[in-house]
Parts: sequence; C-alpha cells; structure tokens
Amino acid sequence: MMNTPLPENEALLQQILSSCEASRLLETKQFMQHGDTNVYDHCVAVARVSCLLADKMGLSVDRESLIRGALLHDYFFYDWHVPDPVHRLHGFTHPKRALQNAMDDFTLTTVEQDMILRHMFPLTPTPPKFREGWVLCLADKVCSTLETAKFTQNSLVRGYYTGEEGLQ
Ligand SMILES: [Fe+2]
Ligand SMILES: [Fe+2]
Repeated sequence: MMNTPLPENEALLQQILSSCEASRLLETKQFMQHGDTNVYDHCVAVARVSCLLADKMGLSVDRESLIRGALLHDYFFYDWHVPDPVHRLHGFTHPKRALQNAMDDFTLTTVEQDMILRHMFPLTPTPPKFREGWVLCLADKVCSTLETAKFTQNSLVRGYYTGEEGLQ
C-alpha cells in the first residue's frame, strides 16, 4: 500500500512546514507519540499518508487544508504517557485541546478546524464533516498502528517519517 509521496505533495508539505517555523510545531518534537515516534514526526507522516490516500482513492480534496489539518491534529504540548490530571483521558480530550492551541497560533479554515476536532472518530462519537477529515482519520490510524507495532523501522515506511531523498 505504501507508495512514494508525489513530488507536488512533498513540495507543498515543505512549503507549509516552512510557514510553521515561527509556531510551536517544532516543540512537538519533544513529546513521544507512539513507539519511538515523536508527535512532530507522527504528524508529518500523517500529512504524507493523507495525501497518498486521497490520491489513491482519487478524492478531490483541498490539498492545503488536508496537509495543515494533518500537521496540527495533535498540536498539544505534553507527554500523554506521563500520568497527570491535566491531560486525563487524553484520547478523548486532546482533539479539543489541539484545536484551541492551533487557533491560538494560526488562522484555520472551517475544514481544518473540523479535521482537528473530529480526528479521533469513532473514539469520540461525532464524525468529521468533510472529506479531508475522513482521510485524516484513516491516515492517523494507519500511522498510529505502524508506529505502535514499530513498523517504522522498515525502510520504506521510514521514508514517510523522514522524507528521505530517493523515496520522494
Ligand atoms: Fe490524535
Ligand atoms: Fe495522531
């Protein structure tokens, strides 16, 4: 299923990442997400896989919103593995927190807001409203599974996390 990202997707992703340099996105490198993958690398991989899935399914999506929503879907600043009442029930509560943080730092479209808020469906019961949100939901679950099962050590999968030259 894993194909190499299309160069246009990768170029847009890099352009959007550059525009995020002044935000707190880079801070998310400090926090682990699943397995040995940090939150930042998870979000970048989810953005790449979201583009891939949209392409494979032939979906017409707003590519910029798809990437921005994917990059910001886990925009929280704590290690959810460390018990702390502040982020109790992380799985249920972090979409709202990520959205609030993202709205503090960015001007988000309606599609991007809905993507972030609904990305944990069906754990949180309200489904995404837009196609981009459904793609994100799926890509997030694919990446989370790959990370938890440590498939990220496979060279092809790793290319999605590092954007290694030759895999783009
Ligand atoms: Fe999440
Ligand atoms: Fe995620």
